Amino acid sequence: MDCNGCNKCTEVHCSIDTKCQQLDRNLMDQWGAISFPIYQTATFAHPGLGESTGYDYTRMQNPTRKQLESIVAYLENGKDAMAFASGMAAIAAVMELFKPGDHFIIDSDLYGGSIRLFNEISKKNGLTYSAANLSSDDVTPFINENTKAIYLETPTNPMMNVTDLEKLSKIAKEKGLLLIVDNTFLSPYFQNPLDFGADIVVHSGTKFLGGHHDTIGGFLVVKDEELDEKLRFIYKTTGAGLSPFDSWLILRGIRTLAVRLERAQQNALALAKYLQTNVHVTKVIYPGLPEHPGYDIMKKQARGFGAMVTFEVDSVEFAHSILNNVQLIYFAESLGGTETLITYPVTQTHADVPKDVLEKNGINDRVLRLSVGIEGIADLICEFNRVFAIAKEEAN
Ligand SMILES: Cc1ncc(COP(=O)(O)O)c(C=O)c1O
Repeated sequence: MDCNGCNKCTEVHCSIDTKCQQLDRNLMDQWGAISFPIYQTATFAHPGLGESTGYDYTRMQNPTRKQLESIVAYLENGKDAMAFASGMAAIAAVMELFKPGDHFIIDSDLYGGSIRLFNEISKKNGLTYSAANLSSDDVTPFINENTKAIYLETPTNPMMNVTDLEKLSKIAKEKGLLLIVDNTFLSPYFQNPLDFGADIVVHSGTKFLGGHHDTIGGFLVVKDEELDEKLRFIYKTTGAGLSPFDSWLILRGIRTLAVRLERAQQNALALAKYLQTNVHVTKVIYPGLPEHPGYDIMKKQARGFGAMVTFEVDSVEFAHSILNNVQLIYFAESLGGTETLITYPVTQTHADVPKDVLEKNGINDRVLRLSVGIEGIADLICEFNRVFAIAKEEAN
């Protein structure tokens, strides 16, 4: 990229790669530590009556967590970010914005844990929801006088459906609804939903932001001050803030977000193309393939296609054989780390989703989900060659 001579590089960084390195220097400690310290303290001393260092009690705020929140808000082009003990804690906090009788609309394909929360907790608290396929359905008929929000992922977990955020946000604004977007699958490296009209961005920080399968965390990011105030109140009152040590781990993960995601995306595209060549693979769903129905929308609203690939094989036995025989790839839940993981949605991430919902979304017992890591691509392909050969032999 050529320098255009704007001389603003220290304030408005030209690239997100640089942004990932930019800790908030206003928050840095007196010694100038480049690795931001872990402030492992529950409480903070007051210099005197009515005086404060800016920190009182770690449930409210902590310097390490504040540093992390500052960089996540910056990466998402938000005004504020709140770091939670998990992605689910972040989503549960959002639901505290609503009152009994309120209604919201969800995308029918979502992380199974979110669906479980809406079915088992939100319903009990008097909230109702309607599920729509937001990547294809018109949302308008689902809106009623009690509707307060639309909640979605794009791309969705695990079927990788892509929704046009700009189009949906226009409807949400017209109808006075909050637009809540779980951006976990792409991370702020590839997509910034607030720029396309979202009101709240959700992340499981456990995934690409943390990046190493070594911590659990979550985020909410907002632009609007009034909404921020409401969520901050819920945050300090319900107390699901991320610990200083876990904040530090995610801060460290973010330093390499750009390089990890570039490499993982490259591997994901190569694997998606490779999987298409196997006769036992009946479907490969990756939004970076031009034939994916969401490809053009992705090009409009994202800077990349991510590292998640879902595929379907021709028999349950074939799927089970793959899961039983992977060696380089781990058969495990979760996503977004440096290692490639293979997940079986029907028994793992979506085990608590009602059968009819799974069926409607095409999530059957032949569907497998890959979170592609940063290994050498030749090794990943070699692993699949080996595993496919075993599965074929077992089928004969
Ligand atoms: C898209 C998505 N959102 C939210 C979550 C929940 O995050 P956590 O496991 O950090 O609570 C997950 C977990 O897999 C997820 O895949």
